[in-house]
Amino acid sequence: MQLSDGFVGTVGNTPLIRLQRLSRESGCEILGKAEFMNPGGSVKDRAALYIVLDAERRGELRPGGTVVEGTAGNTGIGLAHICNARGYRCVIVIPETQTQEKIDLLRTLGAEVHTVPAVPYSNPDNYQKIAGRMAADLDNAIWANQFDNLANRQAHYETTGPELWIQTDGRIDAFVAATGTGGTLAGVARYLKERRPEIDCILADPTGSGLYRYVTTGTPEVVGGNSITEGIGSSRVTANLAGTPIDDALMIEDQQAVTFVYRLLREEGLFLGSSSGINVAAAMQLAQRMGPGHTIATILCDGGARYSSRLFNPQWLASKGLTAG
Ligand SMILES: Cc1ncc(COP(=O)(O)O)c(C=O)c1O
Repeated sequence: MQLSDGFVGTVGNTPLIRLQRLSRESGCEILGKAEFMNPGGSVKDRAALYIVLDAERRGELRPGGTVVEGTAGNTGIGLAHICNARGYRCVIVIPETQTQEKIDLLRTLGAEVHTVPAVPYSNPDNYQKIAGRMAADLDNAIWANQFDNLANRQAHYETTGPELWIQTDGRIDAFVAATGTGGTLAGVARYLKERRPEIDCILADPTGSGLYRYVTTGTPEVVGGNSITEGIGSSRVTANLAGTPIDDALMIEDQQAVTFVYRLLREEGLFLGSSSGINVAAAMQLAQRMGPGHTIATILCDGGARYSSRLFNPQWLASKGLTAG
């Protein structure tokens, strides 16, 4: 028998998809790690699982306990599933700017959801800081703290990185990913660089984020206006991202991301969210820069259904000056 042990045993080991049209067009192997196929539907299932297992191991989370997190959605969704599977209560603090689809799904999964105004990290009422205070006020509770909890990065160092290495038989020339907490890029880049330091590890950044400048100048500094993308971009260097060997950064405009979201849908048959669009747009830019014959991997972070009222709504796109391409 070939069985996976419950939800927890089904996280990870996702397929690596060769994007056929884009590979043909670029002359490179453009590969997308199908993280939308995780059982909770996103790359964040890996971080959520490692954070809970690490807290259990340390004795910080005991049977019947509570997991509290400030999240733009996907980490909360992963945590809600894992809490159900392991018998914990899940409390989520989410900025009210996130899509209704994600907020509704969190409630459907049984999480206690608190929507709060979106304010900068420096404000004491930032959603992450509210989550930290809530957890501190409860017994037998943890604040998952995905941004600075290194169990997040460790998930990708121990699983996503090795999977990419094995799935490409070590023939990977570059890895590119947008970052939210930085866990994915940091864990994968650290692992791949240990295997072969010449592998280019590149950060893709949306406009309105400070990480493009962080990588290219050493100081985080916001460039450009707000982006429609969700779950990625940051004005600060998280503990997960700090010290990661990153070779370069690419800034991707929203229209480019949207164009690739629709190309993935229409040409590859893949229904994905905006961070996947940024990632694939960046992989194609990198292919152009590196020239034909290279193998470039990126992350297909989550599915498109979480964004149907925005990214897949022509009126909403038009209100942002964007088109499906
Ligand atoms: C849709 C989506 N894409 C990408 C990311 C970025 O992943 P990481 O937090 O590992 O940098 C996130 C993080 O929340 C996300 O929700």
